[in-house]
Amino acid sequence: MSAPEAAAGSLVPPHPTPFRRRPSLPGLLWRLRRSLLEVWHESHFSADLIPTRVLGRPILVCNSPDSVREAFLDRHAALERKTPRMRHALEPLVGDGLIISDGPVWKERRRVVAPVTHVSRLPELAPVMTEAAAERAAAWAALPEGARVDMLAEMGWLAAEVICRSVFGRALGAQAALEVVAAFARYQRRAGGGGAAELLGLPPLAARLGAWRRRPEVRRIHAVLDGLVAEVLAGRGRGQDCLLLAMAAAHEAAHGRPMTAEAFRNEAATLFLAGHETTASTLAWAWYLLDRAPWAAARLRAEARAALGGRAAGFADLPALPYARAVVEETLRLYPPIPLLAREAREDTTVAGQAVPRGGLVMAVPWLLHRHRRLWERPDHFLPERFLPGGSAEARPRHAFIPFSLGPRVCTGAAFAMAEAVIVLATLSQRFAPRLAPGARVFPVARLTLKPGETLPMLIGPAP
Ligand code: HEM
Repeated sequence: MSAPEAAAGSLVPPHPTPFRRRPSLPGLLWRLRRSLLEVWHESHFSADLIPTRVLGRPILVCNSPDSVREAFLDRHAALERKTPRMRHALEPLVGDGLIISDGPVWKERRRVVAPVTHVSRLPELAPVMTEAAAERAAAWAALPEGARVDMLAEMGWLAAEVICRSVFGRALGAQAALEVVAAFARYQRRAGGGGAAELLGLPPLAARLGAWRRRPEVRRIHAVLDGLVAEVLAGRGRGQDCLLLAMAAAHEAAHGRPMTAEAFRNEAATLFLAGHETTASTLAWAWYLLDRAPWAAARLRAEARAALGGRAAGFADLPALPYARAVVEETLRLYPPIPLLAREAREDTTVAGQAVPRGGLVMAVPWLLHRHRRLWERPDHFLPERFLPGGSAEARPRHAFIPFSLGPRVCTGAAFAMAEAVIVLATLSQRFAPRLAPGARVFPVARLTLKPGETLPMLIGPAP
């Protein structure tokens, strides 16, 4: 442990206690219904590999940096496919969008979507983040001191505005952004519960039924997105830059023909779906952790004030905000927004010496790996210092930390999300110190994404 880590305060934020005696099947199902964080045995937090079988279907959980690398990098060809459950749940909304496609379609789209949020484009992308953070600061400043907000919803709106304006351009009307955000929120509320079925390896019937029930929502979302796509494409050449036009240019350069309107809509929906709730949950958790760890909040505030002097953070400020980045990384370690990554084997294969038959499921569980007893010191503690240069996380194996997945299907928005989270935290922490509302109960739950409950009530007050 480095000296700054030893000197930092001590906080063990909430997490389910792993069970010590194996529960009965009904007991396990009961826990799983509540949250897929609650089904792990104490021994799973120090295991390298967890081979199991649920309802006759083989499942292999890879739980070491080596086995995770082997499954997601070396065996990518056999294991690139998302699970049937995931594909059926999302297909009505995103069609053949990057997040659930595989084979040649995935390859073609990856070449188009990945470059548009690449780290090299951050200087062009960050101003939208700065603008949204400054707008939130103005909105909070207008609130009476101690005003109660739902921080999960606050960060949800902020992340949604950032992704909407990035995808469709800064001229996107506030009304259009509101429509997209509200339609997606309704869809996601009805789509909960997917993770449990995933873990049980259940057939995708429930997902198909759920998708059918959500058809009216999907029609509304598609109508809004189609209108926006048409508007943006019609205005091409007016000097407006946005992810949609960057995708159009990348597609024409790579394939010599324009992308179809449907492909545009599917990739716009993918970017929104992949980039909105994940970032919102990270930021909400970070505010909660900072409130519980005043020593970390003080250090973040001092760093932000020294680097920014009260103004909103921009791309050029990122190198001067290492502690803010460490807070975001530690938040992603403790509460990875996507706590379980699952793949279906397209052919017979092996991982870590274990046979995986065609149709078998292979998983990596960031929730387990990020709290692995042999990979992390004080694994359940909030200790941003570990991610600073010279901190203990520097010596960890590369794939011990996988909040953005790894391998050819790694999150294309990782640099975008990190920049957004740092800009928002640094900008707002200079002026505000949100406090948990008295009596609020915070506990991690994970269905599709990991959240601090359905809401996170906090009081907005000035920073000391
Ligand atoms: C803290 C925020 C974020 C986290 C934790 C996160 C995490 C992830 C993870 C774990 C995956 C892989 C899922 C799997 O393998 O099953 C993924 C995929 C993806 N993410 Fe993110 N993400 C975040 C933000 C974003 C943002 C802001 C964008 C876009 C601007 C984005 C775009 C994507 C896309 C397009 C994919 C699909 C990649 C593919 O399948 O080839 N993500 N993300």
